[in-house]
Amino acid sequence: MKTRIFTPAFALLVTMFVTPTALSQDCTLDVDVGDNLMFAPTEMSISKSECSEVTVNLTHGGNLPKMGMGHNWVLTLSADADATAQDGWQATLDNQYIMPGDARVLATTDIIGGGESTSVTFSTEGLEVGGDYTYFCSFVGHYAAMKGPFIVTE
Ligand code: CO
Repeated sequence: MKTRIFTPAFALLVTMFVTPTALSQDCTLDVDVGDNLMFAPTEMSISKSECSEVTVNLTHGGNLPKMGMGHNWVLTLSADADATAQDGWQATLDNQYIMPGDARVLATTDIIGGGESTSVTFSTEGLEVGGDYTYFCSFVGHYAAMKGPFIVTE
């Protein structure tokens, strides 16, 4: 009889602990770009223990076409960011300004233009808590201005 009384309370506790993790909004990150060389936000953070996967939604609120003012969202180790961006420029828009098969790229969206949006979902399994990661736009000439730290917390 006692277990019957306590069972619902236990079930409620389990629900309270499990549901926020499974539905956590923190595992979805919105990034806005426009007809300039800026990311908003300028810094991003995720919790590895709360998010086995992260989704980044990239929205281009500007008017310019992707040929002239395209943007993407690319994640690499900070140590790889410079070289990955430079190689990406040579890869051209046909390859989304990413060298095909570039293993340094941990996650990337396609290039989008004004009025478009895109997203990428990736596993956090290979990301290191406290690791040094950078997100940037690999569109030719944008890297110097369009980058920010991607922080992985416990
Ligand atoms: Co850009």
